Amino acid sequence: MAANYNNSAWFYDRLSKMIYGKALVHSQVCLLQFIPPESRILIAGGGTGWILEEIANIQPSGLTITYIEVAPKMMELSKKRNAGNNEVLFINDVVENVPLPDDFDVVITPFLFDNFTEGNFQKIFAHIHNGLKPGGIWLNTDFRLTGKWWQKVLLRSMFLFFRTLCGIEANKLPDIWNTFERYGCREIEKAPFFGDFILSVVYKKQIRN
Ligand SMILES: C[S@@+](CC[C@H](N)C(=O)[O-])C[C@H]1O[C@@H](n2cnc3c(N)ncnc32)[C@H](O)[C@@H]1O
Repeated sequence: MAANYNNSAWFYDRLSKMIYGKALVHSQVCLLQFIPPESRILIAGGGTGWILEEIANIQPSGLTITYIEVAPKMMELSKKRNAGNNEVLFINDVVENVPLPDDFDVVITPFLFDNFTEGNFQKIFAHIHNGLKPGGIWLNTDFRLTGKWWQKVLLRSMFLFFRTLCGIEANKLPDIWNTFERYGCREIEKAPFFGDFILSVVYKKQIRN
C-alpha cells in the first residue's frame, strides 16, 4: 500500500522544522547547485513542493521538471508554488506506476526511500535508475544510522508516527546507501546534517553498466 501523506500535508513542513530546524531544508538545498542549466529533472516525493521554489531561486528558467507526488493534498500545495519560468509537469501518482523516459539529466529523491520496505525500495530504485540517463546526476537525501542511540530512537518514533497517521509501510530504513554503490553510482559530493543522521549525496550514474 502506498504511503498516504495527505493527513500530514497541512502540518508536515512545520513539524519537520520543529524537530530538525532547518536541517531538512538545508540538506536538500545544498544539492541544487549541481543541477546543470536546461536540465530535464525528475522529482519523486516532493512533499509540499517548497523545493520547486528553491530550485527557481537558483535557476529561474530553462528547466523542465517532472514532479511526481502521490498524496493529492501535497500535490495541491505543490501546484501553488512559484517555480519561476521553469516548466513543471505535475503527476499525482506513485512514481513506480509512472512510465518514465530513460533520459532525465537529473533525478531528485528527497526523503523518499525511507518510506519503503526493502523489496519495494529495490523495485522503485531500479525504476528511477532506469529513468536517469547514463552520466546523469542523482541528488539523494535521506536518513542513516551512524551508531548514535538517539538516531534509533528518533527513527523509531518517526516510523511509528507516520505508520499510524499516513500508513507508511516501512519500520526500518532500507539499504539505501549501499544500493547506490551496488549500481555503480559514483559519489561526486556529500554532506552530513543533523549530527550525521541525515546524508545528502550527489551521485553520477555510470556511463555504462
Ligand atoms: C517523507 S515525505 C518527504 C517530502 C519532501 N521531499 C520533503 O523533504 O519535505 C515523502 C513524500 O513522498 C511521497 N511519496 C511516498 N511514496 C511515494 C511514491 N511511491 N511515489 C511518489 N511519492 C511518494 C509522500 O506522499 C510524501 O509527500
